[in-house]
Amino acid sequence: MPPFGHLEKNQILAIVAYLRNHTELPSRAKEINAQAAARGDPRLGKTWYDQICAACHGPNGDGYSAGGTGTAIGTIGFLSKATDGFIRTTIKEGRSNTRMRGFQGANGLADLSDQEIDDIIVYLRSISQSRRQES
Ligand code: HEC
Repeated sequence: MPPFGHLEKNQILAIVAYLRNHTELPSRAKEINAQAAARGDPRLGKTWYDQICAACHGPNGDGYSAGGTGTAIGTIGFLSKATDGFIRTTIKEGRSNTRMRGFQGANGLADLSDQEIDDIIVYLRSISQSRRQES
């Protein structure tokens, strides 16, 4: 996804309006973003992350820039904007029509428990925390 800084503001607004017009389901953003913060054990989360997620999202969540086929989810840029509810729901349900499938239930790529998913979120937040301290 390259930047599109050359678009005029009204062009961007037109694209957003177009996308909103095409959502079939009522927006769940409010409910999802209001979910409780993740609580868990980052060491356990790292074990799950390394086993399941790193293959696509890169060893430290660097995504494409580390040769992954998934987005950068360990970076400050992503984590400072994404709520725990957003990350949790994405892990549980996946993204339709992408390689990001859900990780809960019988049809999931794995059947992670709610606690295991929270452990992964806490781990992701801990990576970005250590990056902040380095810089
Ligand atoms: C088979 C490859 C693959 C695996 C395994 C995988 N992902 Fe993904 N993931 C993707 C792709 C591709 C996307 C981008 C989907 C899209 O285009 O919206 C994504 C998107 C995401 C997003 C949303 C990122 C954003 O920018 O909105 C989160 C959060 C996420 N994955 C977490 C995880 C976690 C946690 C795991 C391990 C439990 C995992 N993923 C395993 C491929 C994968």
